[in-house]
Amino acid sequence: MPAKFITLEGIEGSGKSTLLQKMADWLAGRGHSVLLTCEPGGSALGRELRPLLLDADREKVCMEAELFLYLADRAEHARRVIIPALERGELVLCDRFTDSTLAYQGYGRGLDLDLLRRLNHAATGGLAPDQTLVLDLPPEMGLSRARRRNLEQGLERKEGRFEAESLAFHSRVRTGYLSIAEEESGRVKVLDASGGPEELFSQACKHFPREMEL
Ligand code: TMP
Repeated sequence: MPAKFITLEGIEGSGKSTLLQKMADWLAGRGHSVLLTCEPGGSALGRELRPLLLDADREKVCMEAELFLYLADRAEHARRVIIPALERGELVLCDRFTDSTLAYQGYGRGLDLDLLRRLNHAATGGLAPDQTLVLDLPPEMGLSRARRRNLEQGLERKEGRFEAESLAFHSRVRTGYLSIAEEESGRVKVLDASGGPEELFSQACKHFPREMEL
């Protein structure tokens, strides 16, 4: 069975959005019906939650409140956007999903991983990606790319909450992603994201031979 629900994961500056757009264009050009979406912010509710979660100027909420906002975003996104698209037979490409919560709130913030798995399950009703690509690169490199991008797009003071976290935090997040990939090696593949966008795209294509056909 070709994968229908594909997620991309990685630390800031790993090149997820560029790769997702390239994959979506490529697949759409070959006749697939593709939904390109993201978390947080993939539903109407999520678009209201995203600035609450990421605005660096807003007062920081406690990590449990932050967790439940991500889960609210996911519950709405899964039920109102992703599941209906899958039922219509579309191929769903999603920028971040349940693994982000394990990596950031679990490995990064230190919340209990088993609890997070149960809460993820409750939020999604058991929906899980068929395939996940983790875009891996050293956090120093990712953060400097993310800062450059934010400056170019004038986002520095708006969506900089996680970019402002320490290098140690992002190293824990990276370790988290690599551990998830080891535990679920069938679903999760690790790509080397330290090169350019074209090289990353060709690595990604190797994992989707059947989706790329049609
Ligand atoms: P993005 O624009 O790179 O996707 O940024 C979203 C930020 O939200 C990123 O720093 C990771 C964070 N995040 C979490 O901490 N937990 C989650 O469950 C999700 C979906 C995102």
